[in-house]
Amino acid sequence: MPQPVKTYLESTDMSGKMLHVVVTHGGSGFGQVKEDLPKVTGAEIDTEMLDIYDDDARESSQIVYNWLKDIYSEQHDD
Ligand SMILES: Cc1cc2nc3c(=O)[nH]c(=O)nc-3n(C[C@H](O)[C@H](O)[C@H](O)COP(=O)(O)O)c2cc1C
Repeated sequence: MPQPVKTYLESTDMSGKMLHVVVTHGGSGFGQVKEDLPKVTGAEIDTEMLDIYDDDARESSQIVYNWLKDIYSEQHDD
């Protein structure tokens, strides 16, 4: 996890919030994120995370948007 992200999470009260995690990387995938996140935030963490590879990050806004839209439309299907 990049240090600025870690610092942000450690200094922000996110209790009661749900965290949807998007990771950009150059081949390392999620790295240690799944292990390390619970140590730096009190937020609930969605275990279904999205990883975006390297240059794809530049054009990823639609991917992230659709991913979040799916998550929230599934929750309202019932
Ligand atoms: C100096 C440097 C080293 C990096 N090393 C790795 C690495 O070893 N493994 C990896 O998955 N990503 C690594 N990355 C991150 C990827 O290149 C990443 O996809 C890229 O930085 C775009 O994401 P960003 O816009 O969030 O930085 C590194 C980035 C930088 C700047």
